[in-house]
This record gives sequence, C-alpha cells and structure tokens, in this order.
Amino acid sequence: MKTNRRESKMWFITMLLTVAVTSCNSTATEQTPSLKDAYQNKFVIGTALNKGHNYGTDTLGINLIKQHFNSIVAENCMKSMHIQPSEGVFFFDEADKFVEFGEANNMNIIGHTLIWHSQAPDWFFVDEEGADVTREVMIERMRNHILTVVGRYKGRVDGWDVVNEAIMDDGSWRNTKFYEIIGDEYIKLAFQFANEADPDAELYYNDYAMSAEGKRNGVVELVKQLQAAGVRVDGIGMQGHMGMDYPDISEFEKSIKAFADLHMNVMITEMDITLLPFPGEETAEVSLSAEYQEKMNPYAAGLPDDINAAWEQRYIDYFQLFLNYSDNISRVTLWGLTDADTWRNDWPMVGRTDYPLLFDRDYQAKPVVDKLIELTINNE
Ligand code: XIL
Repeated sequence: MKTNRRESKMWFITMLLTVAVTSCNSTATEQTPSLKDAYQNKFVIGTALNKGHNYGTDTLGINLIKQHFNSIVAENCMKSMHIQPSEGVFFFDEADKFVEFGEANNMNIIGHTLIWHSQAPDWFFVDEEGADVTREVMIERMRNHILTVVGRYKGRVDGWDVVNEAIMDDGSWRNTKFYEIIGDEYIKLAFQFANEADPDAELYYNDYAMSAEGKRNGVVELVKQLQAAGVRVDGIGMQGHMGMDYPDISEFEKSIKAFADLHMNVMITEMDITLLPFPGEETAEVSLSAEYQEKMNPYAAGLPDDINAAWEQRYIDYFQLFLNYSDNISRVTLWGLTDADTWRNDWPMVGRTDYPLLFDRDYQAKPVVDKLIELTINNE
C-alpha cells in the first residue's frame, strides 16, 4: 500500500505528536518514531541478531529490535561452524530461538549463511586422515548440510544467503575449498539443494565490495550463468560494510542498477559505516587482522561533533540512494543493533571504539534515526 505525500506528512506529524504526548511516561528508547513504520512502503528494515538477542538476555536490545525492525538475520548462529560443528552433529538451539523470535514478532526472517569458506568447521573439507575429501563426498556434505538446515526451517525462514563471498574483487572466483574440490559447479549445486529443501524460500547470493567494477561484473556473470542453467536465484545481497570514503556512492549505484537489470531483488544486507581508520585498503575480508595501535583508535574518549555530522550525512546519502531505488530494493539490513556490540570494534583490529550503527552504547537511538525517518516524507 503506497500512501501519498500529504498523507505521509500527516502521518509523520501525528507520530511526532503521539511521541510528545506519551514522552512524559515513557523511557527514552520509546520516544523515537519507528524506522520500520517510516519505511513500510519502501523496503523492510533489518538488523542482525546476536546471542543476547536470540536468548532474550539483552532485553533492552530486544525492545529496540521490536520497535524499529521488521526483518532479522542471524549474525553468527546459522554459520556452518556453529550449526554443524562436527559431521552430522547439528546445534540448532540458538537458531531455533532466532526463528521463533522472528515468527512471534511477525518479522521477515533471513538465514545467513549456508555456503561460506569462512566460519566453516575444519571437518567439512577433510577426511579422517586430514586429506581433502573427494568431489563426491564434498558434494554430499554440502547437500546434507543445506537440506538439513534449510529443511528444518522450511516455510519459516523467508530467505537464505545461499552462497556468501564466492567472487573476488576482480571478478574471478575465490579459490575456496568448495571451488577447489568441486569446481565451478558448486554454486549452482548449492542453489539447487536450497531450492530442493524449500522451494518457497527466497535464495540469495551475498557479497562485500559489490561496488567494485570487477566484482560487479563477476557477480552479474555468475547470476547470468545460473539463470541460463535454469537455477533459481531470487536476489543479490550487497553487504554494505562502509567507511567515510568507501565505497564511492556512484559506483555503489552502478551495482544496484546492474543487479536490478538482472531482475534480482537487491538487498543491502550488512550495513554499517565505520568511523575508524582502516589499516590498508578498505574491504570486508573477515580474515584480515591487524595489531592494535593507539593512533588507529582515535575516538575512544568520544566522538567530535563535526565527525559525527559527516557520518550522519553519509547515512542520509546512502538511504536517499536506497529510496531512489526502492522499486528494486526489498530490504536494508544493519549489521547489528548498538555500537556496543558491532563486530567493527574488533575487526580488523581488536579493542577499538567504533560508532557504525544507528543506536548508541546506551541503547538510545542516535539523532540520525529521526533524520532517516524524516527522509521518507520527501520521497513519497
Ligand atoms: C561477522 C560477525 O559480525 C562477527 O561476530 C564474527 O566474529 C565474524 O563475522 N561478512 C559476513 C558476516 O557475511 O557474516 C560477517 O559477520 C561480517 C562480514
């Protein structure tokens, strides 16, 4: 249901009045209008859930998630090393809680991720002697993993990141164990197995650095190959781990267009905007790790206003871009809830103080949240 601009303005004013009237009795977190409501005619707004959210121990976090988000993704608990730590031994406890939370709150539920070279258990690729398994065994393990995990949540998880980070920034295929052992059929097989396990779940390819020309072309090529082979792929996830100068917004836009041209659902799947200096060229390669240096942690004591203002503008610019493409973009997901639990504090350098998300360390919505909400009014 699309509302017109005037109705939308009225809605926003009503919402602000409601907030003002109820603010006397409510806590600070309840005073902010909701992101998910503001964007309801555009795309769903997601966040990544961690252990404290899944097990319900982070009650303040849970309240914020219910208030602002209508889509959730598992930050870690569905990755193969967590969900199948040894062969045939599945640990579903946390993932079950994650899915139950999404269902109880009528949310769009995303499974992350089935086939990824990182955070995969060692056993997956080797036999008892530690030698690489044969192609047949590798395919069978992949099939069993996908059928078991997707099958368990059939009809409950709405979409799966079937394959994560398989293409390099130059467009070539990443030389993972899956690729090395199975060959370039492995992505096609992964999508086919996921489709077999749940024909109604949406199936996605997800990656970082999607603004890079090489990767953009490589992913387009991959999706075209899958489409030509009659393999179902429904969407492309652009992770969106960003910095103040990276990525270039016009390059990011080119990728949105290129993916939309393939009739893909485009999703921003792991958005955060770091304020910290990056050791080396900016990327989201999880294997990167740099030794702690004081000078690389400039905002441990707090964030200067001018830096914060520039950071806000960057969020606004990106959300404006997403609004411009809201016919093609189905979801924008933030990679985490508050600055206290963002992975950015410890990656690629452990022990820093970063501010990449929309909620601060005290579970307060940052002023940018209102600004992002306001943005929707001018985009009806
Ligand atoms: C990260 C998690 O946020 C961390 O908690 C974990 O230690 C490492 O992985 N790309 C992805 C995500 O697809 O799964 C990664 O998540 C971040 C980069």
